[in-house]
Amino acid sequence: MPRRLAHLLNVLLLFGPCSLPPMLSVPPALAEPALVKPVGQFDADRPLESTFYSARDRIHPIFARSGMVASQEALATQVGLDILKQGGNAVDAAVAVGFALAVTLPQAGNLGGGGFMLVYDTAQKQTEAIDFRETAPAAARRNLYLNATGEVDETRLRHSHQAVGTPGTVAGLALAHQRHGRLPWRALVEPALHLAERGILVRPELAQSLLEVRQQMTRWPASMKIFFKADGAPYQPGDTLVQADLATSLGLIAEQGANAFYEGAIAEKLVADMQANQGLISLDDLKNYRAVVRTPVKGHYRGYDIISMPPPSSGGVHLIQILNILETWPLAELGPESAATLHRMAEAMKLAYADRSEYLGDPDFVKIPIAGLTSKAYAKTLAAHIDLNRARPATDIKPGQPQPYESGQTTHYSIVDRDGNAVAVTYTLNFAYGSGIVVAGAGILLNNEMDDFAAKPGVPNAYGLISGEANAVGPGKRPLSSMTPTLVFKDGQVVLVTGSPGGSRIITTVLQTVLNVIDHRMNIAEATLAPRIHHQWQPDELRVEEGLSPDTVRLLGGLGHKVVVKDTMGNTQSIVRAPEGLFGFSDPRRAGSLTAGY
Ligand code: DON
Repeated sequence: MPRRLAHLLNVLLLFGPCSLPPMLSVPPALAEPALVKPVGQFDADRPLESTFYSARDRIHPIFARSGMVASQEALATQVGLDILKQGGNAVDAAVAVGFALAVTLPQAGNLGGGGFMLVYDTAQKQTEAIDFRETAPAAARRNLYLNATGEVDETRLRHSHQAVGTPGTVAGLALAHQRHGRLPWRALVEPALHLAERGILVRPELAQSLLEVRQQMTRWPASMKIFFKADGAPYQPGDTLVQADLATSLGLIAEQGANAFYEGAIAEKLVADMQANQGLISLDDLKNYRAVVRTPVKGHYRGYDIISMPPPSSGGVHLIQILNILETWPLAELGPESAATLHRMAEAMKLAYADRSEYLGDPDFVKIPIAGLTSKAYAKTLAAHIDLNRARPATDIKPGQPQPYESGQTTHYSIVDRDGNAVAVTYTLNFAYGSGIVVAGAGILLNNEMDDFAAKPGVPNAYGLISGEANAVGPGKRPLSSMTPTLVFKDGQVVLVTGSPGGSRIITTVLQTVLNVIDHRMNIAEATLAPRIHHQWQPDELRVEEGLSPDTVRLLGGLGHKVVVKDTMGNTQSIVRAPEGLFGFSDPRRAGSLTAGY
């Protein structure tokens, strides 16, 4: 709609129908507020930004002209913004934020974990995926996590030195910097070093999450030394948390680059810790670790290009698969939170997660039918079998064992710089604080990513995700992930940068952000806040956040869904790029995040 008309209608709304300024005589059809923000119509040519500052929106995003950072922790966002202002590009900022979060969000930010980065380079007009997922140590074997009776030993798999995959984060950040960085490496590591040295304010959420991990950490003196006071007492909100050993490690990384981690003093400390505790990671594992540049997966959805993470993450493949299935129906007309829309989404999600269990794994070890899974033709056949009036029981799709979910912590951040380069990073230790193990003397928390393998094919992992042979444990192999850093393009321009934590819910959280922006034309703040749903095939339940109308829940129940209300899902950090500038929003589902720009 022409802007002037929109403005006129806003004026009308302001005055209200009974107090029209006397000079204006407007035909009733035009005074209809629906014109301010059309509902139920999908028009791929209408720019996304036309919905900003609609008088219908209850919440509005952050606006900035040139550059923007959205992350889950405010100090880290500030670090990234400073780098952008100093003339660093989006990758420089991403490297600095990656290191900063390792200090300020120790639950998920990390040096001892791994993740995925998407980089859109405006000069090359190309997006590349940097895979810095952990690898299984060379000593890992298929049945490593089975006990004498053939059952999964969950403690070994999740809470021991054998739970740790060879970390990829430092190599990934270094590779990104080597390929795209502009500022010196040291300048990107130092802000994190200073934060570790000077200490950070303990906010309530950090204090709470430390209490929750305390029992795990009591087994590891090096962890207790850092994350609890000398007498073992927990940090209280308002205290300062200093991480001196981590500062020393960051100093070595600032000086010597990634080598300090993979071959130098840090590697030696890490391996010594492994050897003292029956861990598997050797000096060779660290030396041989490589971050890998991969080609992203690409999809096309209602006139937009979707670029996302390829295997060993399942995220991009299934995001595109679900979008392809959903393209069958006019979701905009059906409405964002209607039972009709949510039913279609749930049915599509189930099919994708069932495929995930069968086909996805490390592409360097198994052949994955990516082209087939992301094809329109396959989606069409799947959509044709979705009953619009009845939920399909998960057991009809494939057998499985319902399992409870466990909560974890991962984190995502999105960055756009003044040249339009865009970076989306999701990285993790897996659980909050990973294995809970800190490398003695190095201050580095280690992941427990080995739980993302199928320790026993067919037995669900901590997120209830079932996977099979394709994701069996093997030396040097990368465990299957759900992390879904994603870029959306329109006519060759980035229009959305997004991603989320949330374990198995990551894919569906990102999906809903994309649907809310593209189909439902929500501004990015509203797209973030809208209640989320999730179905992962097994367990056979439609998980929803609080906030769906009871009528909708009843209708979904009537279609045969087992609807369960549980904790919130995901924590998106998103940026929409529009001709006027950047609109960003940090998900308030967890405290402490910040989107800021300049
Ligand atoms: O790679 C994965 O899919 C999981 N390790 C991610 C874990 C996670 O997101 C926990 N978060 N909230």
